Amino acid sequence: MPHALEAMSITKSYMTSDGPMTVLRNMSFHAAKDEFVAFVGPSGCGKSTLFNIITGLLGPDAGSIVVDGRETTGMVSAKIGYVLQKDLLFPWRTVVDNIILGLEVKGASKREARAKASRLLHDYKMSGYENKLPGELSGGMRQRVALMRTMITDPQIIMIDESYKALDYPLKIELEGELLDHVKGSGKTVIFITHDIEEAVTLADRVYVMKAHPGEIVEEIRIDLGTESHSIPERRMSPRFNEYYDRIWQRIGAPRTVNA
Ligand SMILES: Nc1ncnc2c1ncn2[C@@H]1O[C@H](COP(=O)(O)OP(=O)(O)O)[C@@H](O)[C@H]1O
Ligand SMILES: [Mg+2]
Repeated sequence: MPHALEAMSITKSYMTSDGPMTVLRNMSFHAAKDEFVAFVGPSGCGKSTLFNIITGLLGPDAGSIVVDGRETTGMVSAKIGYVLQKDLLFPWRTVVDNIILGLEVKGASKREARAKASRLLHDYKMSGYENKLPGELSGGMRQRVALMRTMITDPQIIMIDESYKALDYPLKIELEGELLDHVKGSGKTVIFITHDIEEAVTLADRVYVMKAHPGEIVEEIRIDLGTESHSIPERRMSPRFNEYYDRIWQRIGAPRTVNA
């Protein structure tokens, strides 16, 4: 059976005033159905570039992206849904009309789409907010709406780029737990991009550790916290959590010696 997602030898450079700069070098990785894969690496290591290449918003200089056995390099695949770093809700559209955007674009009837959105709002404990505008929502609710907007199109692969970065800690933990509730066992593949080691270890089944300049994978770690719980505090209590955290920290987080 093909991987849900496979990337082979992805390389990407940007042109800068100092000439071409290699941002990603020779990145190969894969993700399975029902798997939660995190990419963790420091700011500027090319995570968002990688995200854009996987989603097809950007073409690589070399290498290929294969979704479910089909090459999709440089193309937007209907099988991939994504949530961006900023929630990017349309301020003039109500919550429900923001959620149905993707279905509307695909030509679904507005009535059907709204009914589907109402069911999602119920599942995400946001019934009653259908006709609010994004400006009337808290940061956490906006992120829930952004996730629902992706989920309503029923993508096989969900890509998330540092979506919880700007949230305060308790809210971040709450949303992370909800994410596990919604995707674990759903048969979907999640690709989660973050600079936050803690977040990667708590959520993922497998972590690709990246370094910067150029962005490369330096390690692949299978995570087994020994618990099925979706509660983030419980997952962090796992005695194995610190082992994984330290291993990644040693690889990318430990301060480097600066040569004067
Ligand atoms: N369009 C662009 N043109 C030139 N350089 C870019 C462009 N986009 C990103 N970069 C640079 O590429 C590197 C990786 O950026 P990015 O993929 O956003 O990293 P991350 O998401 O890990 O912070 C950074 O040094 C950034 O400044
Ligand atoms: Mg980024």
